This record gives sequence, C-alpha cells and structure tokens, in this order.
Amino acid sequence: MKKPILVALALATLATAATAAETTPVYLDTNQPLEKRVDDLLSRLTLEEKISLLHADSKFTTAAIPRLGLSRRWLDDGPHGVREDIGPDTWAPAGRTDDFSTAMPAGICLAATWNPELGFSEGEAIGQEARARGKDIMLGPGVNILRTPLCGRNFEYLGEDPLLSGAMCSGYIRGEQSQDISSCVKHFALNNQEFERGSINVEVDERALREIYLPAFKAAVQDAGVWSVMGAYNQLRGQHCCENDYLLNKILKDEWGFKGLVVSDWSGAHDTRECALNGLDLEMGTDRKYNDFYLAQPYLDLLKKGELPMTGLDEKVRRNLRVMIATRVLDPGRKTGSLNTAAHQAVARRVAEEGIVLLKNENHLLPLDVKTLKTIAVIGENATRLQAHGGQSSEIKAFYEITPLAGILNQVDRQVAVTYAMGYDAPAASGRSTRPKTAGEPFSAAELADRAVAAARAADVVIFVGGLNHDIGLDCESRDRKDMKLPYGQDELISKIVAANPKTIVVLEGTMVEMDAWLGQAPAVLQAWYPGMEGGNALAKVLFGDVNPSGKLPATFPKKLADSPAHALGNYPGTNGTVTYAEGLLVGYRWFDTKQTEPLFPFGFGLSYTTFEYSNLKLLPGDGTNSLVTAQFDIQNTGARAGAEIAQLYVHQNQPRLPRPEKELKGFKKVFLKPGEKQTVTIALDKNAFAFYDPQQKIWVAEKDGFAIQVGRSSRQIELRADYQLPERMIAK
Ligand code: BGC
Repeated sequence: MKKPILVALALATLATAATAAETTPVYLDTNQPLEKRVDDLLSRLTLEEKISLLHADSKFTTAAIPRLGLSRRWLDDGPHGVREDIGPDTWAPAGRTDDFSTAMPAGICLAATWNPELGFSEGEAIGQEARARGKDIMLGPGVNILRTPLCGRNFEYLGEDPLLSGAMCSGYIRGEQSQDISSCVKHFALNNQEFERGSINVEVDERALREIYLPAFKAAVQDAGVWSVMGAYNQLRGQHCCENDYLLNKILKDEWGFKGLVVSDWSGAHDTRECALNGLDLEMGTDRKYNDFYLAQPYLDLLKKGELPMTGLDEKVRRNLRVMIATRVLDPGRKTGSLNTAAHQAVARRVAEEGIVLLKNENHLLPLDVKTLKTIAVIGENATRLQAHGGQSSEIKAFYEITPLAGILNQVDRQVAVTYAMGYDAPAASGRSTRPKTAGEPFSAAELADRAVAAARAADVVIFVGGLNHDIGLDCESRDRKDMKLPYGQDELISKIVAANPKTIVVLEGTMVEMDAWLGQAPAVLQAWYPGMEGGNALAKVLFGDVNPSGKLPATFPKKLADSPAHALGNYPGTNGTVTYAEGLLVGYRWFDTKQTEPLFPFGFGLSYTTFEYSNLKLLPGDGTNSLVTAQFDIQNTGARAGAEIAQLYVHQNQPRLPRPEKELKGFKKVFLKPGEKQTVTIALDKNAFAFYDPQQKIWVAEKDGFAIQVGRSSRQIELRADYQLPERMIAK
C-alpha cells in the first residue's frame, strides 16, 4: 500500500514545481543565469519604461517600475561612507535624523595603508551601511591620478601610482560589492584638476593615457569586476568624457569587456545623440527637468523618429538591468546591511592607524610616554575641527567624530595635564570667524600666536595639529588650491612654537604642503590626512606608541610646487580651455627619479618606531603562465617593537626601445612582524610587470632586454637589487 502513496506524493510535488516554474517569471528566478534574467526582464518593458531606467527622477534616484516589482533605484556618494541624504530636487540636506553614518578616512589615507585587505574591509563596511540606508549604487571609489598637488580632490583619490591605486580600489570594490551593492569607480577619466572641470579639454599622449591614467580603472573592471563606472566632467581630445566614444565604447566596453553601466557625473551629459551613441547608459544630475534630460524625452523622440537605433536603447537598458540583477535587487535574500556598528568604527580606526605616515622622528621624540610627561600643549585649529562633514560630495554626516584633541584626552586619561591653544583662526581667514574674544571682537592673529607660544613654552611637549581643511579652495571639490603652502600663517606660527619649545611634534591634516620653512627645526612630523571619525583616537595611539606607524606616502611630496612635473613644465591649469599633459609618463616619482630632482619626501616613504632589515633577494622561476619570475627576499624586524613594513618592488628596463621612466612600481607587500621576527616575502611578476604600451602597434609589449629588479622601503631607498633577463618579446595586456 505504501508505493502508490509515494508515487502520488511525488507526482503532486512535481506538479507543484511545474506550476511554480510557470508562475515564477524567469527574471525573478534566482536559479536562472544572469543574462537570461536580464533578457526576460528587458522583453517585458515598454519603450517608456526602458527610457525611465536611463535617467534620474530626483537628485539620486531613478524611477520605480512597480508592475514588475522594480523599486526606485538609489545612488549615493561615496567614497568615504554613505553621504547624508539630500534633495529630492535640491542639494540641500533632506533634514533626516537617521542618515548619520560611519566616516572612513579619506581615500588618500586608505591608499597610504598600502593594505588592500583593509580596502576590502572598508568597502565591505560601507556596503553594509549603504544597504542599511537603502542604497543600490555607491559613487566611489575615486581613482584619478594625482597629477598636480593642487587638485582640490586629491584627498578623495588614491595617489600618484597606477598600480597602487588599482590594487587599493580593487580591494575596496570587492568588499563593497560583496554586500549586494554596486560600486561606481570614478571619474573616468583624466579628471585630474578641478579648475574648469566641467569643460577643460585634456590632451594626453596615448602611452601616458594607457600607462598612468587608465590602469586603476582597468583593475576595477577586470580584477574587481566593478558594476558601474562614472564618466568624468572634463573632455578628452575634444569630446566630453561622459560621451566619449573612445573611452567608453572602444576602451571600456570593447577592449576591457565591461558589462556594467556607465553613469554620467552629475550634469556631465551634454547632448542626446552623443550620449546615445558614445556609451553613456545612465544620466544623472543634468540641470533640467527630469523629463527633459538628454536620455529622457529627447532620446525617446529621436528613437521614435527612427533617428537613433532601438538596439542602442536595449543595450543601455540591458546594462542597467544587469547591474540591478547582479546586486540582487529582485531577490528575496538580498543583504540588508547594518549601520554605525562598533565593527565599522573599528575599520575606520584601523584605516587611520595604518594610513597615518611618520615623516620625521629625530632622536626618537616619538612615541611619547605618559609617565614621563606632566603637561602637553595641544595647539592648532585642526586639533578641534570636525573634518568629516566637508569637501562636498564625499562629505559624511558622521555618527560621531573624535578630533585630535579629544583623542589625545582619551589617551592620556587625566594622567597628564593638557592645555589647548588655537594658534591660528581658519574661519577668520576665510571671512567667517565665529570666535569673538569679547562680544563682536575676534582675537587678532598676533594674539592667537602669542597665546600658542606661551602655551608651548609652559609645556613639556607640544603637539601642533594643523595643515589644511575642507574649506573651498583647499581640499575641496570644485576648485583647486592656488598654491602648496600652509594657509593661515602656519609656517610662521610653527617656527615660533618650535623656537619656544623644541619638543614640538607637527601633525598635518590634509594633502601635501610645502614644509621648508620649518622642517629643519621641527623634530617630529606626522602626516595624518583626513583620518575619519576615529581619527583622533588613531592619532593618539600613534603618538603614544600603542600603534606603531606603518603608513607610507602614496604620492611624492615635492619640496616646492615648481618641482612637480605639471608645474615645472608650465602645464597647469591649461590655456584657452585645454591642458596638455606634456610630462607624459613622468608623473609623480617617475618624474622626480628620471629627472633626478630631490623630493621633500619620496613616494613610498614612511618611518616606523622599529627598524627593518632587508636581505637575501633571489629571483626564482615563476610558474610560466601567471608569473615569469618570483622575487623572494627576507625582511626582519630588528627593533624592539612589533611593526609593519611595506616592501616595494620597482622595475627598471636597461635599454628600452621607447623611453621609460627610471623605475616603476610593479609589486608591494605589507608584512607585520614581531620584534626580531624574520619573514620571507615573495612577489610574483608576470609579463605585464615588464611591459609598456606601444602606441604604434596599439599593444602592451614586454621586450627582450635586461631589467633591474629593485626592492626597497621607498622609491628612493632601494635595499636590494637583482638583474633579470627577459628571454623573449611578449605581448602583455
Ligand atoms: C561629483 C561626483 C559625485 C556627484 C554626485 C559630482 O559633482 O563630481 O564625484 O559623485 O557630484 O554627488
């Protein structure tokens, strides 16, 4: 009797499965392959619905299609956390109380960690917060190469080296996209200055384009599988980057095989035909009514008239749907994220701890020891300034922010008396002083300086916290700096403070500045960038030795602006709307090394409280396919503290057919070592590590030649060398 019942049950189950299969549309069926789901969904859309997916319906959303279960799609900035909600139709804050989030250190600080795993953790945390806040596409990371120290957005980006930027952004993207969020790498490409950013035309030779400005984007696409790319505001060779056939169609989509969507920067689209034909898939931020966006009604009209092909439309829609389905917007199990967790705050702190760079430490002034100190004078406006909510699109309404002064107070925990003097008045300098001495009357600059000097004189040590901030004209989107100097009279102030108390530690927030005025006198200098909401705690841990600094510079610090390539050649900010990158490949250390110009601090530089010894470099045969040769060497921590060293591998070609920079970073590894510990490090090199772009043949090629493999602690401190002979010419990619 049992058998018929089983058969009946089995048949019933099959029948239910069959009905379910019939009733679940393919696009909703998570067992179906991505492309099938995309095709099915595409086939269900009306012409108008298709168009609605290609443009905004508020500052940061595109329209929902409720009949198919598609909710409104939310994009958001990026890249240091999830931005405060604004709009819907203006840039004014939406006035919510639930949009505080974790403020990570700025991109340049992340790059200074040289730790792609930390990049993953940061991306993952931001991805979780983005999901908790209902976002779908996060507008970051920013990977424009630091061409000039003056670019107002250098703080958001990942420095001057294509390999480092590519590795760091890939970690971040993998982490973020693991949370059912699409990252959006930006700004593609050559948005290397803010001056005339909406119109400036960049003329750059093909090699520099391929070897310097594109590799981080290529890594984002090919190594990390980024789902969205944002076009840049500027033009390349006379065509706006959001409508640039060469960049978007030829390179990004055809050559690199990018399958995701290209979104315009906000107001970066200019023409319906150009957008339609030259690779833009989603238009945001245009200064018109939403229905009048170039990819809205005007596009629909041209399609209906048969002046633009429907296949082009479908291709754009397909890309948008692909990103939606890949980030599981239609799936029941889509991740829901978490916001403002202790774990996220810990990531913010770790990035700051590993990103702060120790630039100078004479006579081991650092780390400080609470037990030997009675008084510390903290001086400088940045010691108390909140930085996270500044800089424009990358600003974060931080859940909280530990300032440097607060971090130091936490750290010393009342065991040392701490005094504070502002020293200089940044708001006064920018015409917005809010600090009256008595009603209506602010302190004069001289009075502020006198008070600071008196505080310095009375203290055992001074911690000066200054540098830049996010005021417009400093480290802030939409304008460049006008020079590389410390603002608000800080050069003079630091000199006075150091004269009053030689035990002065200078902590600089922001991007690179000239330091010649006082560097010779100041015994210790820390570069703290914008260290995020946990920055004060991280800084204090570094100052007092709970954390051994391990960050290294992701960009060369020139002695003076005129030493850096774009300025040495007078190719900034351009004339008559065009900037020519005449320095070509020689960006950052590639210029300083090739021209033998002494930098203030070289690319890759950073000190530690311990010491490391490099030894025993061997070149071992690679596996033949993924690696040609493996560099193997030992690093030993020869000091008394645990610490981390970032070993850098540079390649030099002996007799290249076309000129090459003196050396190029081709690998790096961050190793954490206990006192006395020795570790064997390996860095594998494939053919790409030896290749350059041949503009005549339009290929990457590694030539049969001798190469010097150089391993060091910075681009200017090479410790180990070995010769390598590339046995034959190889086509690379
Ligand atoms: C910036 C982008 C940003 C967008 C949206 C633009 O002005 O250049 O980086 O993602 O605004 O806020």
